[in-house]
Amino acid sequence: MSDLLALVRGCTFDDFLFTPQYSVVERRDPSAIDLTSRVSRRLSIRRPIVSANMDTVTRSEMAIAVAEEGGLGIIDRGFRSGEIDPQVREVQIVKRKQHGIIGDPYTIGPEARLTEAAGRMRQTGVGTLVVVDGAHRVQGLLTSRDLRFADDSGTVASRMTPRERLIVHTGALDPARAEALMRTHKIKKLPLVEADGTLRGLITAKDLVVQRQLPFATRDAQGRLRVGAAIGATGDYLERAAELLRAEVDLIVIDIAHGHSAVMARAVEAFRTRFGDAELVAGNVATGDGVRFLLDLGVDGVKVGIGPGGGCTTRLNTNYGVPQVQALAECRAAADGRVPLVADGGVRRHGAFVQALTFGGDTVMLGGMLAGTTETPGDVVQKPVVVPDSNKTVHVPFKVFRGMASLQAIVDRLDVEDAEAADVEALGAEGMEVSVPARGSVRPLLRDLVKHLCSAVSYSGARSLNEMQELFRKNPERFVIRLTESSRRESFDR
Ligand code: XMP
Repeated sequence: MSDLLALVRGCTFDDFLFTPQYSVVERRDPSAIDLTSRVSRRLSIRRPIVSANMDTVTRSEMAIAVAEEGGLGIIDRGFRSGEIDPQVREVQIVKRKQHGIIGDPYTIGPEARLTEAAGRMRQTGVGTLVVVDGAHRVQGLLTSRDLRFADDSGTVASRMTPRERLIVHTGALDPARAEALMRTHKIKKLPLVEADGTLRGLITAKDLVVQRQLPFATRDAQGRLRVGAAIGATGDYLERAAELLRAEVDLIVIDIAHGHSAVMARAVEAFRTRFGDAELVAGNVATGDGVRFLLDLGVDGVKVGIGPGGGCTTRLNTNYGVPQVQALAECRAAADGRVPLVADGGVRRHGAFVQALTFGGDTVMLGGMLAGTTETPGDVVQKPVVVPDSNKTVHVPFKVFRGMASLQAIVDRLDVEDAEAADVEALGAEGMEVSVPARGSVRPLLRDLVKHLCSAVSYSGARSLNEMQELFRKNPERFVIRLTESSRRESFDR
């Protein structure tokens, strides 16, 4: 390992290629090659992709897409201090995206008017309401079809399918058995109840179909999509964590620019005191000392990367940082498999994604690579661009991508009207804002990334991501080729 550390000192992704090895896989098929990895001590994902907690990258839409494709989205904390609800709402949207058992389906009372039922369906976007009495016991089901041509003045009870004509289920149920029950009884909705008839959940045929179509999706024990959320280390961070955990977020990330710090020590200790062993990743660090420091504090995962990010100017402005490959190799050696590492930042091409997983990352956090896709937050702006050949001006759609420490992002988070002018002036930006061309959905991009990773597994002589990492760590010299200026040009200049 010390040889590897010497070899990668001062280096980053574009400094290396890997030597192809004897391949043993028959097909580079993403459904056959195991790419399972851990984001944190107890949280595994089937695709090692984490979308960055940046306000131009991950809100609920991105988190849903990434989780459905097998990764994990981390909702940013780029909301104003004290504004906790908007971030919690994003988490709730992901957890409510129907994917398994709906733990708290929308309900209505039997005496309610049909107009009220129609309003609730419109408001919530669901087509089925479970009818319950005052003690939350199931009385029937009301679907949008029951409302068709109904007399508005009627009650829910007059149109619902009553309890005695419903198939319900009591006790544990996995998706395969739920599907069998629905097939046998030719039903599309299956309410789950306690022995006394109290509503416990609802399974719909649509959800089961979705589950089948997305076999690698990142789901919790109830079949709901998983999602993470970021908090800071000062200000409202504990209150924010409390609300996020109440919304059943799957992972909290304490994300600050310099995670090897007294501020972080205080924050993790306070977090552990208040929330026990809730799943916690912390960062960012870029040295072995930084990793050992976080491990001693008892975190479940470490985020690695100081300054490689696309929207980041830390190294330019402060001259501090560690080239990302060096950082990953050193942090891997220090963590020694005790907690997983998230390789965060600097991955601009698919080959660098493979490197991040090989040199030290268990998963890779992506910001700029996902920028401009439909699922990123923010508006599309048409900008005039001059075509060089014809000198004609065309309008091209763009979206904004910005570092979370860029002046624009900081100012958006501040209540600028209330802030002192001197405070705004004193802000030291460590990020920038750029426009990136708007492109289509992030899903084909994620699938391409996964395909290229499978090809890399094949070139490495392994059968799975895990094995690829083990083979490399056993004998890095067999793999690593340090590039010269001209071999780098030959490799990457296209
Ligand atoms: P990529 O290269 O994938 O990197 O865009 C994403 C990561 O960049 C970090 N980040 C920043 N770092 N100033 C920084 O020093 C910033 O303003 C900034 N914004 C984001 C962050 O770790 C993210 O995951």
